[in-house]
Amino acid sequence: MKRDANLTNAGLMARRKAAIARGVGQVHEVFVDHARNSEVWDVEGRRYIDFAGGIAVVNTGHCHPKVLAAVSAQLQRYTHTCFQLLAYEPYVELAERLSHKVPGDFEKKAMFLSTGAEAVENAIKIARVHTRRSGVIAFGGSFHGRTNMAMALTGKVAPYKSGFGPFPSGIFHAPFPNALHGVSVDDSLHAIEHLFKCDIGPEDVAAIIIEPVQGEGGFYVAPFDFLRSLRALCDRHGIVLIVDEIQTGAGRTGTWLAIEHAGVVPDIVTMAKSMAGGFPISAVIGRADIMDAPAPGGLGGTYAGSPLGCAAALAVLDVFDEEQLLERGRHLGERLQLGLRQLAARHRSIGEVRGLGPMVAIELLVDGRPEKPDADLTKRLCAEALRRGLILLSCGVYANVIRILVPLTVSDEIVDEGLRILGDSLAATT
Ligand SMILES: Cc1ncc(COP(=O)(O)O)c(C=O)c1O
Repeated sequence: MKRDANLTNAGLMARRKAAIARGVGQVHEVFVDHARNSEVWDVEGRRYIDFAGGIAVVNTGHCHPKVLAAVSAQLQRYTHTCFQLLAYEPYVELAERLSHKVPGDFEKKAMFLSTGAEAVENAIKIARVHTRRSGVIAFGGSFHGRTNMAMALTGKVAPYKSGFGPFPSGIFHAPFPNALHGVSVDDSLHAIEHLFKCDIGPEDVAAIIIEPVQGEGGFYVAPFDFLRSLRALCDRHGIVLIVDEIQTGAGRTGTWLAIEHAGVVPDIVTMAKSMAGGFPISAVIGRADIMDAPAPGGLGGTYAGSPLGCAAALAVLDVFDEEQLLERGRHLGERLQLGLRQLAARHRSIGEVRGLGPMVAIELLVDGRPEKPDADLTKRLCAEALRRGLILLSCGVYANVIRILVPLTVSDEIVDEGLRILGDSLAATT
């Protein structure tokens, strides 16, 4: 592949700083030349192993040939008509196939948008019209996006909400259960009952929205009994249970949706990111009667459910079947967890290794003490790993968690090479 020899990361960084609003952050000072499966090459020709997957977008790997072929074929036919003006079959097929994959033995319907935040916005709109209520309960540490409603739902102030208010009213936060940091399932459930007593009656709550594994918040897995209790609570009060699977969905946890692990049937699911292998499309899928609540024209968008996104998403569904990626993901999860536990045995700074299937993380603590998150080490570790050719991504309310979102199509050899670099980087930084 031919590179422009005049481009350097430092040179592009200088141009970026001059031309791009600083609020658009950048984790690593690297500019990409090309990427394939689980590897990325920068403009200077350096190769990296990608443990970040474009923040959970390329579960099927960078530039999967089947996804590229489907999008190329679509490009030759039509690229845009606006589904609400002139419809196209791939949108309908995608709705049929995705609805089929969402748990629940009842009729389901879907709609498509472009980004995760838009999917969240629309899920709330639909739940509000359906219930004719306005309140929404979300969780501390959650991340639901950067639009106004999604920011309001997000349970992490800096940098996502700082200075961006006012936010819509009627949004409340309960603590997310987190055993490591001393919040039990009972604590969380009591906090919701407390909200019902002090802030909003359950009869005014339209929806509860939860990530089955918090992504941005730190890869904390919601205990399955907590998710079941939320389901029961929603049934008791006629509240819509929305599961935000934007980061966890499309096979990231070893099942198509993470909620399947808990055996819980949500009313609405939001998806985006890896559902289309790198092309922008998002989905809201749910019970047909709930999804049909808004009147015609109330939902949609000019680019929502673009033909290219639909073609890519259909190809991703085929790739999952043909390459048995869920099974492959479960194997990958075990390999990663084993490797990380071996590292944890050698490095006291790794306070916890956790995850669900191949959605795994390490939490870095000073002397293994949960009250002492080590954000500084996390930062240094990411920088050192990058220097050695491994792309890492941190997360967490305390910025002390390294999350692994390597493509499910990665080879065992590259996983092991990445784990070796991670170990060497830890040794160099601790
Ligand atoms: C759980 C979750 N919800 C919503 C979003 C927002 O998605 P987007 O950035 O596509 O708007 C994200 C993005 O990281 C996410 O992880």
